[in-house]
Amino acid sequence: MRKCRVGFAQKSAEERSGCRDSDFPPRLTLDPIGFVRSPLETKVQAARQPRAAAGMPARIELLRGRNFEHALEDLAHWKLIWVIFWFHQNPGWRPKVLPPRSTTGRKGVFATRSPHRPNPIGMSVVRLDRVDGLILHIRDADMLEGTPVLDLKPYVAYTDSHPGAGTGWLEDAARSDTPSQPSDPVRAYLVEFEALAAEQAVWIEAHTGLAIRERIHSTLALGPTPHPYRRIRRVDGWMQLSVKEWRVRFSVVERDVRVLEIYSGFRASQLAAGGADETQRLHCEFLAIWPHEQKA
Ligand SMILES: C[S@@+](CC[C@H](N)C(=O)[O-])C[C@H]1O[C@@H](n2cnc3c(N)ncnc32)[C@H](O)[C@@H]1O
Repeated sequence: MRKCRVGFAQKSAEERSGCRDSDFPPRLTLDPIGFVRSPLETKVQAARQPRAAAGMPARIELLRGRNFEHALEDLAHWKLIWVIFWFHQNPGWRPKVLPPRSTTGRKGVFATRSPHRPNPIGMSVVRLDRVDGLILHIRDADMLEGTPVLDLKPYVAYTDSHPGAGTGWLEDAARSDTPSQPSDPVRAYLVEFEALAAEQAVWIEAHTGLAIRERIHSTLALGPTPHPYRRIRRVDGWMQLSVKEWRVRFSVVERDVRVLEIYSGFRASQLAAGGADETQRLHCEFLAIWPHEQKA
């Protein structure tokens, strides 16, 4: 059974389903982070979804003494946020519900946005007007006064918006004819290879099987900023990417990345006497064609 400290009028899972309590599935405990303050007192007053709420204003008041001031930092940069909340005025749940807009009878509750769910969790995208301390001023609220709020997240259009997703059983809703997702708002870097680097990359691919051009391109197109996990560093005033034992020197001008040169990441001492294994022997061969001063 799920234990929820916000479950004011909630029946237990056993009461709802008739199942016996057990250790599995495990119990989950949730604490509200705050509450909705809204003029909407009764269910019939509330819109069926935020987009139908016509700008309905509300506040979300977060609890004091929980460090939520810090958790709220930077949220105001987002225009839209997800509010995850608890349908606290629900007496229970039903496997089949009759949504107001269904013209073809009852639907499985998981195929709907009904509040009558086994875990009565609601999710609404609302407009965030401003944040004043622990108070969020929102619009498009479809939550009732006193609704416990469980979480807040930014609405990120490039991953949350799927205009081509269709309308399921809402057959009377207009179908979008825009099949693609909105594009990622962060434009990719343009990655170009100088002649030397291109020639070296071709040699590496032919002799080692490592698809180094694709590795370089996909890593740097995402962003060439120094990053330990992505193996990008600033070395001797140059930018350097590591791909396996290879080192890639590149420059950045605005959003253009130029791949200048590739060299070996092995030290001179490791490559002395022709290298200890097949990998090092290939690096020695590479250095014979394109000499480079290796670190001792
Ligand atoms: C269809 S639900 C959609 C909620 C949310 N946007 C979602 O999709 O999960 C909206 C309806 O839930 C009801 N509602 C809102 N807050 C509630 C609460 N705290 N407890 C029970 N019902 C609530 C209101 O009747 C409102 O019209």
